[in-house]
Amino acid sequence: MKYSGLAFAVVVLASLFARSGSASPSTSKQGVKKESFGTLPDGTPVDIYTMTNAKGMEIRATNYGGIVVSLRVPDKKGNLDDIALGFDDLKGYLASSPYFGAIIGRYGNRIANGKFTLDGKEYTLAKNNGPNTLHGGLKGFDKVVWNAEPFQNHDGVGIILTYTSKDGEEGFPGNLKAKVTYTLTDNNEWIIDYDASTDKATPINLTQHTYFNLAGEGKGDVLAHILKLNASRFTPVNQTLIPTGEFRPVKGTPMDFTQPTPIGGRINADDEQLRFGRGYDHNFVVDGKGSDPVLAARVKEPASGRVLEVFTTEPGVQFYSGNFLDGTITGKNGHVYKQRYAFCLETQHFPDSPNHPEFPTTILHPGQTYHSRTIYKMSTE
Ligand code: GLA
Repeated sequence: MKYSGLAFAVVVLASLFARSGSASPSTSKQGVKKESFGTLPDGTPVDIYTMTNAKGMEIRATNYGGIVVSLRVPDKKGNLDDIALGFDDLKGYLASSPYFGAIIGRYGNRIANGKFTLDGKEYTLAKNNGPNTLHGGLKGFDKVVWNAEPFQNHDGVGIILTYTSKDGEEGFPGNLKAKVTYTLTDNNEWIIDYDASTDKATPINLTQHTYFNLAGEGKGDVLAHILKLNASRFTPVNQTLIPTGEFRPVKGTPMDFTQPTPIGGRINADDEQLRFGRGYDHNFVVDGKGSDPVLAARVKEPASGRVLEVFTTEPGVQFYSGNFLDGTITGKNGHVYKQRYAFCLETQHFPDSPNHPEFPTTILHPGQTYHSRTIYKMSTE
């Protein structure tokens, strides 16, 4: 884990410049602050970066797994609350975490039976989710230490995370160089840019696994949050949450969020897909996908007035309603996280794409560059 003293000096100078160049006192904390977040059992030091924008919105992220540890966002009265589930310290994340806030790779979501064939060769991955591989395997990108460089530029403040995944890591081919950039803008947008290149063809599907509760972490379930998904189809799954290959219209089903609807409105309906997912745990096909990010989802929490909009260049978004949270995790501030105390909107390609030639490809070839962008934009109403 290298850290350049020069880069830090640049950030500090940039933030001093931003302060002296602005008349508004609210910009006084704007910038990126680096602190220690502890050490791994093998002694590797881990840091935490606090990014603050001119409006006081704050993202704290560690270079362990690229985990966003907290997201402090104003409500309609201007009060800041932390809207991301997680732990108070590194120990919590090391002990056991259901991917709270983490970068997911090489392959977000499931690969059936831990196997895929590429260029005539069969690859075997660890099965860490029943018969399937989930979120990159036993030690995915959520559990590695990334190199981190803070920055401040005209777009905002942020950190650049880089990690090289070795040929054969978790069973995947090729040395894969991954770069994930978190930018916090003064429009209260958290922008995530994913970039990668490889020296052998390999599947790749990077995503971010923040668990949101727009009322504040630990403040009850998300069933009254109002969700709109810009998706007229979804990818139905089997009992082990592997897509059947169909793109099924949501119309007339509990999967229809094309109009703003409470998350809990139909979550216990007698529906095979909801039974398989124990609630929502499905990939929705984003309507109107293009090369620029399109609005995939909008969530509003009525009491706080907080609104989250998700824009993405990805063709899909996994809407997960926190079904596996079961009260066995005590997270930040002593809060016990019970079922459906959060939701995730994980932008991505469709699950198990390496075994579904009919889906948009997730194979990255040498000489190509992978790029994907997702924007989580916060506002109030
Ligand atoms: C993703 C999966 C879920 C679950 C969570 C983590 O959202 O689709 O099934 O595994 O991650 O618990």
